[in-house]
Amino acid sequence: MRLLPVALAGAILLAGCGKAEQQPASDVPGTAVPAEPAPAIEPTAAMGEQVFKRCVACHTIEKDGPNGIGPNLHDVVGRAVATHAGFNYSAALKAKGGNWDDAKLDRFLEAPMKYAPGTRMAFAGVIDAADRRALILYLESQK
Ligand code: HEC
Repeated sequence: MRLLPVALAGAILLAGCGKAEQQPASDVPGTAVPAEPAPAIEPTAAMGEQVFKRCVACHTIEKDGPNGIGPNLHDVVGRAVATHAGFNYSAALKAKGGNWDDAKLDRFLEAPMKYAPGTRMAFAGVIDAADRRALILYLESQK
């Protein structure tokens, strides 16, 4: 039974953690406790490069890379929607107008066919918000 004290200590520690998380955020200036627990892992462009593997069947991203089933995505953040040279976009995406920014990319990549009904991007979407954040950081880094 030498393991029992260790197991008990672990249980007490876990219970302690649970309590700490439930404490309300302090409202004393300078001693602020984050109201939301920080995400376990902060999304990075390097993580986004891994997520981008879901896109490479249809997209290249290197400068002057060829269009494939989808348009080349080099420097796409800030670029006018549906304007990459030599790619035949759907009327649905062309009708969107404006420039790709973080917010639009986030909504498009979450559910392309919902964001632009009639889009030719036959891709269900990236469901996980942290994956999308990482992906957009990666797209931003490719300019
Ligand atoms: C099955 C092929 C396919 C996959 C997989 C795919 N796309 Fe696309 N993508 C397209 C097509 C086709 C278009 C053009 C859509 C249109 O004209 O409606 C497009 C358009 C886009 C655009 C708009 C580009 C512009 O010039 O306006 C972005 C941004 C984009 N895709 C990002 C992604 C990302 C990021 C992924 C991976 C998470 C991905 N796509 C996965 C086919 C695909």
